[in-house]
Amino acid sequence: MEGTNGSIVILDFGGQYAHLIGSRIRRFGFRSMILPSETPADDLKDAAGIILSGGPQSVYDGGSPTADPKIFDLGIPVLGLCYGHQWIAHILGGKVEIAKVKEYGPTIMNTVDTQSPLLEKCGKSFRVWMSHGDEVTKLPDGFTLSASSKDCAIAAMMDAEKRIFGIQFHIEVTHSEHGMDILRSFVELCDAPAWSIGTYKDALTAEIKKAVGGNKVFMLVSGGVDSTVAYTLLHQIVGADRVRGLLVDTGLLRKNEAKNILEAFKPLGMHLEVEDASEEFLKNLDGVTEPEKKRAIIGQTFLDVQKRVSEKMNLKVEDGWMLGQGTIYPDTIETGGTKHSVTIKTHHNRIPIIEEMMKRGLVIEPLKDLYKDEVRQLGESLGLPHALVHRQPFPGPGLGVRLLCALEPSLPRSDEVISDQWSVGSQILPVQSVGVQGDGRTYRHALALFSSDPYTISPVHIELATSIPNASKEINRVLQCVSHDRVKSFQFVPTLVNTETVTLLQEADFVVHEAIEKAGFTEKIWQFPVVLLPVGISGGRSIVLRPIDSIDAMTATPFIFPADVMKLISDRLLSLNGIDCVLFDLTSKPPGTIEWE
Ligand code: XMP
Repeated sequence: MEGTNGSIVILDFGGQYAHLIGSRIRRFGFRSMILPSETPADDLKDAAGIILSGGPQSVYDGGSPTADPKIFDLGIPVLGLCYGHQWIAHILGGKVEIAKVKEYGPTIMNTVDTQSPLLEKCGKSFRVWMSHGDEVTKLPDGFTLSASSKDCAIAAMMDAEKRIFGIQFHIEVTHSEHGMDILRSFVELCDAPAWSIGTYKDALTAEIKKAVGGNKVFMLVSGGVDSTVAYTLLHQIVGADRVRGLLVDTGLLRKNEAKNILEAFKPLGMHLEVEDASEEFLKNLDGVTEPEKKRAIIGQTFLDVQKRVSEKMNLKVEDGWMLGQGTIYPDTIETGGTKHSVTIKTHHNRIPIIEEMMKRGLVIEPLKDLYKDEVRQLGESLGLPHALVHRQPFPGPGLGVRLLCALEPSLPRSDEVISDQWSVGSQILPVQSVGVQGDGRTYRHALALFSSDPYTISPVHIELATSIPNASKEINRVLQCVSHDRVKSFQFVPTLVNTETVTLLQEADFVVHEAIEKAGFTEKIWQFPVVLLPVGISGGRSIVLRPIDSIDAMTATPFIFPADVMKLISDRLLSLNGIDCVLFDLTSKPPGTIEWE
């Protein structure tokens, strides 16, 4: 996609949600482009509209990202979201200060100006998703107030004549009511030409041909949706004789995964080599507990195996071989892949050695601007079978990031939890998991809640899963115990990646997915991590069920299934030797991430 002509351009201030806006606009059927915030106004003259994204910094901090103020003179509609809204106020004569109440999560928005072209479909009040620590406290010159919340007086504003709009809440996340109506109303003001995955495919084909040139592509294929679609695309565009695939059996795949993938590829007529490297992966991960270190080791071992196999297969850079990767957009933004975003976690396809190869133009990532749902659409348009394209996503490092490792228990620093109201029927777990709050990452504890009816997810517990992480400095996840109505205390069990723990997790994952498939839930659940924890009740370990509902992995809510399915899964897990407790993760994203590491 070259040139801004007719595009709605998102100027990226580094927000986690910048590309979400881009994908939403494409889903409306228009072309979107994401560019660095500093892009000169001169380069944006042909854009149909400009959206200023959110970002992790404060507009009044030295060195915080900025854009070219001349964009306001281009005569095209401008919409600022969160940091973008604050930046508009800051530049055009308003004022931005630290908010008295920092808002994270849902709040009610009251429409002040029902005539605002962006808010006309929202009604008098609506529920939105907030995530901010600063707020606009004085309107810029020429602006009028459009909406307020209880804790944020200037939550939406506009200069109707110049078509400049500012909105503090996150319209782009699916959990904001009317978010899409607001974005669509803005897009309609922009008068942009039509866009579709079909037209994008044409542009992509040209880009791939140009990037590969006369070279050949070697790709690691995991069997997941992303690498399968990327491999098929390269296969079809570059040609079977110039594309080779390798499936590395890391030992961290699902039970029977390697065998199943080979069978699925056979009818598609694609080559795929398989290398069983499970011993090597387990040996390299021996004794390692730190999640990011595990990711780096898995990434490095992938590359070592790939190098060894490519030498064996005689695939040398000098002979014109380059590396294909199935990286999709959320993988790059969460690694701090755009200029102003902070690192939430490192993805294995963004480790230094790959970045070095990228600089040398030796890596091709055909899906790097697409979201999962777009990758699926593209996959179906390539003729891939529905079941393969609609598999739940599985992370590259596999079960390696679903097996929480620790040699010592991690205890909360304060007793805040014990003294609070929710301590009745709850236990804090002596382990930490990763979460995302605001635009940064947190490592905090999980709290297990209990119920006299463990198989039914309690609506009170769902509410607590939002309010507790908002109020607590110690907790970023809330679980319901679905195997016991009460556990006196959890015991820590030292845990590392080894044959015993991986086999146990593979069995647990198999049992859960088999039950879900039988109950007809597989395609309804966006992703379902099954996580092994180094804590249990009487010498065994616990399994966390983490089924989620999501569109693009940027935000998520727990997927709740009926009590009979919950009981079946819990009973089957407890029948496995080594599992003595089952917990259900109630946390949305944010504040929790989908994976636990
Ligand atoms: P989180 O846990 O950040 O996950 O909410 C968002 C999506 O990314 C997947 N994920 C990964 N995928 N390598 C991958 O290929 C990784 O290291 C990795 N970590 C998380 C996760 O499964 C979810 O779909």
